[in-house]
Amino acid sequence: MREKVLHLRNVIKRFGGRTVVDIKDITFGTHGIEGLIGPNGAGKTTLIGLISRKVSMDQGQILYYQDKNEMDISKKSLDELSRMGLVRTNQIIQDFESLSIRDSLLLSLANSKHEKFYNIFNEKELRKNTEKEIEKYLDYFNFEDPDGHALSAGEKKLLDIIRCMVLKPKFLLMDEPTAGLPHDQTDKVIELMKKKTKEEGMAILIVEHDLDLIWTVSENVYFMSEGEILIKGTPDEIRKNKTVINKYMGESEC
Ligand SMILES: Nc1ncnc2c1ncn2[C@@H]1O[C@H](COP(=O)(O)OP(=O)(O)OP(=O)(O)O)[C@@H](O)[C@H]1O
Ligand SMILES: [Mg+2]
Repeated sequence: MREKVLHLRNVIKRFGGRTVVDIKDITFGTHGIEGLIGPNGAGKTTLIGLISRKVSMDQGQILYYQDKNEMDISKKSLDELSRMGLVRTNQIIQDFESLSIRDSLLLSLANSKHEKFYNIFNEKELRKNTEKEIEKYLDYFNFEDPDGHALSAGEKKLLDIIRCMVLKPKFLLMDEPTAGLPHDQTDKVIELMKKKTKEEGMAILIVEHDLDLIWTVSENVYFMSEGEILIKGTPDEIRKNKTVINKYMGESEC
């Protein structure tokens, strides 16, 4: 078990008077890769939004731990969060008409609304600081022509994952990062996640409906339903759990 990275206490989010997230006491980051699963509308994306401060909290406390220091992240700006190592995937990679794939990635690193990690650098410095990393990942994912312009939906997803990796997070939140990707690229994302958590100590919380992926990558899985995290366990415990089967997996997975 690793040291915890995040601790949520009595976190509540309501939309129009309806409670969509209600977390009593949950700790994330004590395992390399943790999965968060649950039916559509369970509140998974909202929870990721609350942690990454894209969604405002109605009540509660989210504590982030860095070098044994405890910080209440509701008091931190989004930029501060990413510099502290809390990063989320968000598909902000745009298809800039006049820019190459390589430069679109660079621009997303420089201009990202929520993660101005590199805003202390000018463009030349940014290029110098991230060039090698960017090349390494573009190569890894076999981008045939990084100088080309067109970005498919799949390429955008991959570029967003690359953007996150270049930011070198301590805790990475991934919301359906591989939905719509071809199998070979999904496998590469999985390999990368495993490598980062094993070799560099990154902690990852991944939301996915692709349960095969969840069972393969996760050391620990949380089951969320109607705003609450009902069960936590190993992949084996979760996939056999009656509540999970009844509320989510249905007969096809039994
Ligand atoms: N901005 C919003 N305004 C009002 N209601 C919202 C808003 N965002 C989400 N909701 C509602 O909150 C609930 C939780 O939504 P959320 O997107 O977090 O679910 P999810 O678990 O990510 O679902 P999925 O698996 O389909 O992605 C849903 O009922 C949704 O309609
Ligand atoms: Mg969602």
